[in-house]
Amino acid sequence: MSHMHAKIEKNIGLMAILVAVAVSFGGLAEIVPLMFQAETIKPLPGIKPYPALELAGRDVYIREGCYNCHSQMVRTLRFETERYGHYSLAGESVYDHPFQWGSKRTGPDLARVGLRGYSDDWHRAHLNNPRDVVPESNMPAYPWLAKAKLDGAEVAQHMRALKRIGDPYSDAEIAAAPTAVEGKTELDAVVAYLQSLGTHVSQADMQVAEGAE
Ligand code: HEC
Repeated sequence: MSHMHAKIEKNIGLMAILVAVAVSFGGLAEIVPLMFQAETIKPLPGIKPYPALELAGRDVYIREGCYNCHSQMVRTLRFETERYGHYSLAGESVYDHPFQWGSKRTGPDLARVGLRGYSDDWHRAHLNNPRDVVPESNMPAYPWLAKAKLDGAEVAQHMRALKRIGDPYSDAEIAAAPTAVEGKTELDAVVAYLQSLGTHVSQADMQVAEGAE
């Protein structure tokens, strides 16, 4: 046995492979069960795949890199839940591909920004130039969003791709997507997306789901 040990230690390639195998056990033991546990893959009541306009807004959000400054994950800490509402549950983001969790917060968390009571006009003004509504803001301005029209065919294609990986979009919903976003701008889409964040699950249902976890 000690002979074998010496052999392994002297063969750096074999040693590296065996180290990787040993270390991966810990990761597998933690990660694999999460992939099959019901509460991490089952949508909470009220959570549905994003409607066409909100999905398009989410794409713009990702393209513009909003996540570099904004997380969408309320942590399980008192001062977070006092400020933002119930902490985030896995069942809220089953249709987020990719999810927008994270810890980088130059700006506030946006997981529940739809509940904050900002009007659509406030969001428009804010995205066009944050300083117009929040004078001390250091958020960048996104004036081009108001000028860019959405491409309905592209939105439908994205929905088709999401359906292929398991999101329950109906064919009728996909067929209606180009009409749903017709004449809308990227700004309309981002505002619709922001206004929807946190509104799908009631705080009461969150409490129930929390109890089940
Ligand atoms: C460089 C960092 C940065 C980037 C990138 C950024 N933001 Fe912000 N955002 C901030 C900061 C700082 C604030 C707080 C000041 C303010 O309200 O403008 C903020 C505030 C907000 C708010 C108000 C939140 C609240 O609860 O009051 C929204 C909504 C928002 N950002 C959306 C966006 C969207 C959408 C994008 C991408 C198009 C984006 N942000 C990109 C830094 C950023």
